[in-house]
Amino acid sequence: MKKLIIAIDGPSGAGKSTAGKALANNLGYLYIDTGAMYRAAALAVLGKEILLTEEAKITELVKQSDIFLQGGPYQLHVFLNGQEVTEQIRTPEVSQAASIISAIGGVRQALVERQREMGKQGGVVLDGRDIGTHVFPNADLKFFLVADVYERARRRNLEEINRGEALTLEQTLKEIEERDQRDSHRAYAPLRPAVDSIKLDTSKLSPTGVIEKMVEHIEGKLNLVANSLGRI
Ligand code: DC
Repeated sequence: MKKLIIAIDGPSGAGKSTAGKALANNLGYLYIDTGAMYRAAALAVLGKEILLTEEAKITELVKQSDIFLQGGPYQLHVFLNGQEVTEQIRTPEVSQAASIISAIGGVRQALVERQREMGKQGGVVLDGRDIGTHVFPNADLKFFLVADVYERARRRNLEEINRGEALTLEQTLKEIEERDQRDSHRAYAPLRPAVDSIKLDTSKLSPTGVIEKMVEHIEGKLNLVANSLGRI
């Protein structure tokens, strides 16, 4: 069976990682959390005496940093220069820094190169902002998930509380709005739907509801591929 490249893009809290992990798990695919890579890069920068405006220094540091993801969709471990940083990259400070440094062209170039290398064999679900538009413009299936900003903030805030962060819903909402604004308006590979993406509004859907809709599209694609192979 053909191993697909599946792109899932969208803003924070739209449900990309919940759906992406479940799909990758069910299909036996690799799950690539590209946001985790930008987060690990941001952590590298925050650990040095570098300002978030020093683009050349940041690019150099990210190019030299060894960032890699290991493990299946539900046991994903993130490493920065040999050290596990899976938990440290989830703080609000790292979220903002990741959004800021991901606007730097050199940083994106370095990480996109690694993402293409990891995904080129197929059998992958990539979760990000620019997968369908930039990283894999020829992906077999492209999903663009959106949801009402208040619903996204509610979901994110719940995750933060579960992690022990004492953020109010208003703080999380502000943080999400800032990131949305920055991620969508940067010059280089901004967050936007690919023209050929399948758009899904997850505001009123349960995680299972979202996954079911995506599975329908994936099955349709796999049948199409199987039929066209049958005709050869
Ligand atoms: O998906 P996430 O919230 O973990 O991503 C953190 C930040 O990384 C996000 O605000 C923007 C950036 N990012 C990006 O620019 N491109 C991607 N493909 C993934 C994330």
